[in-house]
Amino acid sequence: MIRPRRLRSTPQMRRLVAETRLHAADLVLPLFVKEGLTEPKPLGSMPGIVQHTEESLAGAVAQAAAAGLGGVMLFGIPAHRDATGSQADAPDGILNRAIRIARDAARDAAAGTGRPAPVVMADLCLDEFTDHGHCGVLTPTGDVDNDATLVRYASMALTQAEAGAEVVAPSGMMDGQVAVIREALDDAGHTGVSILAYSAKYASAFYGPFREAVDSTLQGDRRTYQMDSANFREGLREADLDLAEGADMVMVKPAGSYLDVLAAVAERSDVPVVAYQVSGEYAMIEAAAANGWIDRRGAVLESVLGIRRAGADIVLTYWALEIADWIR
Ligand code: PBG
Repeated sequence: MIRPRRLRSTPQMRRLVAETRLHAADLVLPLFVKEGLTEPKPLGSMPGIVQHTEESLAGAVAQAAAAGLGGVMLFGIPAHRDATGSQADAPDGILNRAIRIARDAARDAAAGTGRPAPVVMADLCLDEFTDHGHCGVLTPTGDVDNDATLVRYASMALTQAEAGAEVVAPSGMMDGQVAVIREALDDAGHTGVSILAYSAKYASAFYGPFREAVDSTLQGDRRTYQMDSANFREGLREADLDLAEGADMVMVKPAGSYLDVLAAVAERSDVPVVAYQVSGEYAMIEAAAANGWIDRRGAVLESVLGIRRAGADIVLTYWALEIADWIR
């Protein structure tokens, strides 16, 4: 008889034959920084996650370095919002300040420990900075204006690069965004700054808790620019376009409900594939665990391993620090 159970017989054997592993270097921790906060503010819908002050951000990046994480992804929440998101490309805007703080903290932590510093990545989108909460600027009739938004993104990319971002991550799903950002960076001499493209980003109910995390003012939805969750082929088309436009890495987001898209993008991509385990995916497991309905650690590890197994090389997850601790 053929007996596959032989390879499951002991923990040692299972460890030996495991096809997928988690490693801290493959994990990226999203971090929120809010202008004007005097102490870190816990998020009700994301237990264990906070909006950071500029001071506590430095500490969080040091923790990420000590844990050996591959990177941090920064989101900024400005004190002032307006129609064009002017704080997004203000050199002293909160996100650009956060990039400088994170680079310094990463460098200091690496110097102290000899460990590689986490790569500093920045969200490149207008939704945290606009008073209407959309990812772009609006036309007079209230539509999101694709090409006018690209001009804003190019400016944001330059500001982020000047602040020290090693990776910029356009998440607004505007057509042509990767090409415009690449050209702007190259023309300004920032040829070494990478683009992590949110390529197949779906309009998702699983972003719910993120709205609290960034104090979102959005009314309505993002369905004219983010993708319809019914569509698989379109996700591949978006990834192909971003690859053609010069994306250094491509992302599928959310992760857990889009593992088919993730696997197919991984199959055809010749650059690293990233998946974002989003706020709602985090909140669901946390809520079930808090009720005693699910084994928290088991569910967290299984959810992230499943994302890796489906084809993600890199995973953005709010559990990055804790997972790194568990698997050390
Ligand atoms: C937009 C952005 C969003 C998330 C990351 N970048 C929100 C949205 O598209 O509505 C969601 C991340 C999460 O839910 O964890 N800049």
